[in-house]
Amino acid sequence: SPLRSLAEANQNRYFGTAFQTFYAADDRYTSILDTQFDQFTPENEMKWEVIQPQRGVFNWTGSDLVIAKAKEVGGIVRGHNFCWDQQTPSYVTNITDPDELKSVLKEHIDAVLGRYKDDLYAMDIINEPLNDNGTIKASVWYDVLGEDYLATCLQYARDAAPDLKLYINDYNIESVNNKSIALANIVKGFRANGVPIDGIGFESHFIGGSVPKDLQASMKQFTDQGLDVAITELDVRVPVNNAGIANSTWLQIQADDYSTVVQACLDNGNCPGVTIWEFTDAISWIPGVFAGQGAACPYGLEYEVKPALGAIASTLANG
Ligand code: G3I
Repeated sequence: SPLRSLAEANQNRYFGTAFQTFYAADDRYTSILDTQFDQFTPENEMKWEVIQPQRGVFNWTGSDLVIAKAKEVGGIVRGHNFCWDQQTPSYVTNITDPDELKSVLKEHIDAVLGRYKDDLYAMDIINEPLNDNGTIKASVWYDVLGEDYLATCLQYARDAAPDLKLYINDYNIESVNNKSIALANIVKGFRANGVPIDGIGFESHFIGGSVPKDLQASMKQFTDQGLDVAITELDVRVPVNNAGIANSTWLQIQADDYSTVVQACLDNGNCPGVTIWEFTDAISWIPGVFAGQGAACPYGLEYEVKPALGAIASTLANG
């Protein structure tokens, strides 16, 4: 059975992938995309620099394709993202006046959600806001608006799309550590003060053999507060040779890791689904960023099935 059917049968969860529309006409890519997944995240297509590269100039091409794909195959879309310290054009990052920055932000959110509010299930409204020590990361948002930017960004999104599930998405929060504890405290403040927040995205870019033992405990920091926790960008990087190939020992370790993470979602009643950050090693961001590592996805460079695929499927079927 396709992963999506196995996930749907498991308390109506989804099983999703990042989608790069650059490959939307590649049959090898779409034959897997169209059958295995019922949730799609635009890997880059909804980022600020792509969707509004100049003030008032919008490029809906890629994001429209993601929405159309979800409709075509009967899936849902997680949007990604508004407030981030990366991929934001200089006409935004050069702003120093708080009122001007807020109006540019509101304009952007109103435009994107005005177009897509009925097409999005959830969205990473805020992306990667924290440093590993739990302090808030420098960005135009923090530098000009202070910590209040978090609430402002979430509130603008709620106002523009009342039914959209609003997420904060981050990495290195998959164990109980300074970063996830700080985020749980921020959420506690939001809950007390009526700031809208529905979920936390656990990116889950893992290293083979190193999935945190307290992943489930970290998820509970948020689901105990009434939020959802979604696995939003799962991949598991392993050592590779010069051709980008991993050996069978690593592929088995990786398969076990995928299984562990999927099981953590299934074991938490408030984890709506798992999204992998690309399904094929042919497209994964990992080798370009981590020298000597790669092969992070359940399908290989030639779109061949790797052990991780079967591990995900059997976990969904039995978990
Ligand atoms: O748009 C240009 C294109 O015109 C050009 O031909 C091409 C040549 O390399 O580059 C294209 O832009 C690249 C884009 O991906 C699309 O391929 C950017 O340079 C590149 O920086 C960008 O990388 C993305 C990265 O985010 C930065 O936005 C990765 O694909 C994407 O996987 C990665 O995703 C992030 C999540 O958004 C947040 N969490 C971490 C995750 C991994 O870094």
